[in-house]
Amino acid sequence: MPVYLGSTQRAPRRRPYSRVDYAGLERIGQTDRRPRNDMPDTMSYWNSFAESFRALGPPLRPSREDIRSMEEAASAWAAGHPGQRLHALLLGVTPEIAGMRWPEPSSLMAVDSSVAMAKALWPGNIPGRRWLVCGDWRGLPREERSCDMVVGDGSINCLRYPDGYRALAAGVHRVLRDDGFLVLRCYLRPELQESPEDVMERMGEFPSFHHFKFCLLMAMQPDVHEGIAVHRVHQFWASRKVEEEALAARTGWERPSIRTIEFYRGTNTVHTFPTLGELRAVLLEFFDEISLTKPSYPLGERCPTLVLKPLPGKCRYRNQRGGSR
Ligand SMILES: C[S@@+](CC[C@H](N)C(=O)[O-])C[C@H]1O[C@@H](n2cnc3c(N)ncnc32)[C@H](O)[C@@H]1O
Repeated sequence: MPVYLGSTQRAPRRRPYSRVDYAGLERIGQTDRRPRNDMPDTMSYWNSFAESFRALGPPLRPSREDIRSMEEAASAWAAGHPGQRLHALLLGVTPEIAGMRWPEPSSLMAVDSSVAMAKALWPGNIPGRRWLVCGDWRGLPREERSCDMVVGDGSINCLRYPDGYRALAAGVHRVLRDDGFLVLRCYLRPELQESPEDVMERMGEFPSFHHFKFCLLMAMQPDVHEGIAVHRVHQFWASRKVEEEALAARTGWERPSIRTIEFYRGTNTVHTFPTLGELRAVLLEFFDEISLTKPSYPLGERCPTLVLKPLPGKCRYRNQRGGSR
């Protein structure tokens, strides 16, 4: 049964998603506490993480340079569609994307499964222009061919490989118009994988604890199919018994940033870090790659932004299986 969570609108029929408004947030929070078989730990991880999320920086958050790549992709579409409204869909609640320079006219719908993240980060709905829906990217709450742009920052790395990636890609392909496009900043593992010990050894080289943690996550992933359950990274870190004060003094890292590893404790949230080849193996079933931009900040080579266009007509994935929508 769909649960309607807003306060002034009628319940949408047969749609397990809810447009979020601030009057409805508390009630949405209550529904989030129900166990969900498909992603119980994802919820608890993001919910506990939400308050501290703002403190993160690149590479875990998009930089001005990343946002510029997204703005350029949106402007290019607008230049080719003079006077037309750009209908955009955001995978998550990334405030830098919500607040980027959008062409006129445009509208943005954001989809995120965590009410806590929405409460902590979403800059607010603007009637007719920007709104948030509580839902899962593996079943995007949009009509077929209703979007011109889908954009996400690190979103695909929250899903399991390859099924979650494929579900997202198929859904995005479904909601995009033929001349629409997908913009994804992705976290990619290098071809030559480091060991956790390698990362520990070069700890002093990282500009921040977040850069170190980012490489440790990738180094600890056994393979992309298994991904990395973040509690394992916490266990590994705890087993090394690194003294926080001495580490902060030695590296210049901020102590609150070092403590963010505590959010990984006891949660089974899994992140997946594909190589570029592994990422392309799924995405190119559905899309043509238009561009890949590597930002200039430290570890930027692991955080490219890809712009992709849907393959025309039936995508290769559906052709391979002979299935139709
Ligand atoms: C977009 S990702 C990565 C964060 C990103 N780097 C940023 O700066 O915003 C984080 C968000 O994904 C959401 N999320 C994770 N898995 C999801 C799913 N399957 N469906 C919808 N939202 C999901 C989490 O709730 C969280 O708000």
